[in-house]
Amino acid sequence: MATENPMRRFHVVIPCAGSGSRVSMGSPKQYALLNGVPMVVHTLRVFQSVLGLAQSVLVVAPDDSVMGDVLRQWPQSEFFVSHTGGATRAQSVLAGLNALIDKGVGPEEWVLVHDAARCLLTPALVEKLLLACFEDQVGGLLALPLPDTLKEESHGRVGKTLDRFGKWLAQTPQMFRLGMLQQALVSAGPSVTDEASAIENAGLSPLLVPSAAFNFKVTYAEDLQMAQAILSDRYRSTHSPT
Ligand code: CTP
Ligand code: MG
Repeated sequence: MATENPMRRFHVVIPCAGSGSRVSMGSPKQYALLNGVPMVVHTLRVFQSVLGLAQSVLVVAPDDSVMGDVLRQWPQSEFFVSHTGGATRAQSVLAGLNALIDKGVGPEEWVLVHDAARCLLTPALVEKLLLACFEDQVGGLLALPLPDTLKEESHGRVGKTLDRFGKWLAQTPQMFRLGMLQQALVSAGPSVTDEASAIENAGLSPLLVPSAAFNFKVTYAEDLQMAQAILSDRYRSTHSPT
């Protein structure tokens, strides 16, 4: 849903070029059917329902032959597909940013980078991030204060207990200005695991925006079952007779 109000405009980059090796389902997890709908479509629908979404990109592997069919069946008007995914997530994200630049998106525009595999995101969480970061000089990310006691391993046993105070788990979306993020990722190289790390390497401090545990990333097989259960529950609560 696009808007004419420049204050509300943001672009999205969805890295979607992974192979899903840890989920062990034999095909990329972003296409796993949850409630009969591919995981990535659940993810895209969240952004499509947020006011201010502008031209956005879905980065898939160069040899991906599935996404075209998926989008024919479940069209997502603001997203175009770029077959430029790289060997690491950071390379796929950088390719997505470059695809937006090629389309004429300017360096001062806001970009939200979000994992295709984080399909339980809600419009309310996106709103919370947008509200917190639109006026910020740097940008920020959804994150969760660490809920459990933190242990450091030594040969399969506890080496020591670390202080969990002030520790956060980074999630996505992560929201930064296009030009700043593109330069930060080029400088940080292909191995950074999130956008905030690249921005931190550039000497800046992204804003931590408190999120929710349900915005986890589907990584292992049991995460697929958990995602399915939560989506079914959400569906029941919006479609049950009152
Ligand atoms: N991703 C990507 N390009 C890569 C690697 C990952 O676009 N070279 C994307 C994935 O498709 C996913 C997100 O980055 O949406 C988070 O990555 P992860 O959960 O690690 O997914 P996979 O790399 O597919 O899974 P695994 O690490 O288990 O192989
Ligand atoms: Mg991976």
